[in-house]
Amino acid sequence: MRITAHVNGEVKQADDVWPGESLLHVLRERMGLPGSKNACEQGECGSCTVYLDGVPVCACLVAAGQAEGREIVTVEGLGTPEDLHPVQQAFLDAGAVQCGFCTPGLIVATHDLLTRDPGPDDAEIREALAGNLCRCTGYVKIIDAVQLAASRQRGEDRP
Ligand code: FES
Ligand code: FES
Repeated sequence: MRITAHVNGEVKQADDVWPGESLLHVLRERMGLPGSKNACEQGECGSCTVYLDGVPVCACLVAAGQAEGREIVTVEGLGTPEDLHPVQQAFLDAGAVQCGFCTPGLIVATHDLLTRDPGPDDAEIREALAGNLCRCTGYVKIIDAVQLAASRQRGEDRP
């Protein structure tokens, strides 16, 4: 079947999509958007998190057909290599990226959190990111990155 959706502000099509195919597979393998990562394919790790009509979802759990005509934003849609989104820049600056496999999902989840709450405390950050697993960092630098992005978003200086 053919899937047509608005992805990162553009109309994108994928042909020959099979009925059981996930949105994650379509994004990565058919639409040239490998930013969202496939780590568990079971909705457990959050590395495939994208916005679907403004709501963060695990793209590995969304059937491709459910995305027909809908609005999708992936980590590639939040910033570009030349012009990173402030959340992306904060993850780099705080040293919150090691292997990077969890990072795209954490960026989307953090973007969503800071859209809803510009001043989360550490407990609220941990709660909001509970669905995003990281095997490398121990989470401390991830919390630092979210706090850094939040403070910059509020216009505060923070080393
Ligand atoms: S790959 Fe989707 S939740 Fe892990
Ligand atoms: S940086 Fe490796 S899984 Fe998070």
